[in-house]
Amino acid sequence: MVDDPGAVLAGRRVVLGVTGGIAAYKAVELCRRLVDLGAHVVPVLTEGALRFVGESTFSALASEPARTSLFDDVDPIPHTRLGRAADVVVVAPATAALLGRYAAGISDDLLTATLLATRAPVVVAPAMHTEMWEHPAVQGNVATLRARGVEVVDPEAGRLAGGDVGEGRLADPARIVDGVVGVLARGHDLAGVRVLVTAGGTREAIDAVRFIANRSSGKMGHAVAGAAARRGAAVTLVTTVSRPVAAGVERVEVETAEEMAQAVLARAGAADVVVMAAAVADFRPKAPSPGKLKKRDGVPEVVLEPTPDILATLGERKPAGQVLVGFAAETDDLHRNAAAKLDAKNVDIMVANDVSGPDAGFEVDTNRAILLYSHDRGLPAEETPLVSKGDLADLLLDRIVAQREKEPR
Ligand code: C5P
Repeated sequence: MVDDPGAVLAGRRVVLGVTGGIAAYKAVELCRRLVDLGAHVVPVLTEGALRFVGESTFSALASEPARTSLFDDVDPIPHTRLGRAADVVVVAPATAALLGRYAAGISDDLLTATLLATRAPVVVAPAMHTEMWEHPAVQGNVATLRARGVEVVDPEAGRLAGGDVGEGRLADPARIVDGVVGVLARGHDLAGVRVLVTAGGTREAIDAVRFIANRSSGKMGHAVAGAAARRGAAVTLVTTVSRPVAAGVERVEVETAEEMAQAVLARAGAADVVVMAAAVADFRPKAPSPGKLKKRDGVPEVVLEPTPDILATLGERKPAGQVLVGFAAETDDLHRNAAAKLDAKNVDIMVANDVSGPDAGFEVDTNRAILLYSHDRGLPAEETPLVSKGDLADLLLDRIVAQREKEPR
């Protein structure tokens, strides 16, 4: 957490979007807090929000009169002006409808138009009934937004409108302020930095229809790419999975270790930071059959050969000043195995993952890791708590930024 939120917020332009949920009244408190901390707050209320709260309440508390429509302004394109001038756009409460329209790129009012027009970081604080929050469509939209680099301040469990109790209550205004401050404090600390990230597991053909794969979902690598883009980096993501990526991320789709090696090695020389989060196969069938192997021909003997070790090659060719990050998925003796890989592959930071548990590593949305730093930096290993993959991505990027500051190119 940031020690002095006032120092971060002073003079920053915050567009505060308010949508039509019962929690809209809490946005009044959020608005007041942001103004008290020195932010310049511009409220944008949707038609739905106006059914719950008064425009004049926000106009009285905020730094500018509340905006409610694309068309009530003398300015014919208020959304681009609002979006461009914003240091951050916050939507609290964000209804299921707003999340869906934003995720789908639908702009049908001033707030959604501003969200699509802005390149500033965006924070959303969803609030809705538990059933709606848990619906796969809503969860899918939230995941899409997160993957694009949007900061989501998760709702809390508690009493909801109508007396129900469950998850979906708007986060406390203090937590939303923390989210806004965190995003602004990190700001664009990777502006102008070229970041190359890999994600997902590779597939190695046995025959025309079968392949050897692994459990990697690509979530961690996509989270790193999204967080780096949000922090201003020029990001290239070499991925084996078709997950969404943040606006502006260059995406290169590959399938095999060989294709990933070619895509990565061709681009790595120009990168300031390389994060190898992909689970690259270590072995592949030596002679994949061009056609489908027939069952009637008996059990095939699949002879394996090693794949190119991309990370090791990157370590050998590492240009001065480049920060090289590897991931080590282990099921036992995590620390020692990861440290050995860090040395062997000439890596600057190794993110060691215990993938044997149910809540960290492959497929899930959370992770717990040990960050190991190359010995010449003398930093002790750092154990993280169980955090979301987005938070782990930001923590890793914090460490990368710190390393670049110590050893600029
Ligand atoms: O040795 P191990 O495969 O566990 O090392 C994991 C790290 O090495 C990951 O960062 C992974 O992306 C990378 N790797 C690679 N090429 C391989 C195998 C792993 O770049 N063939």
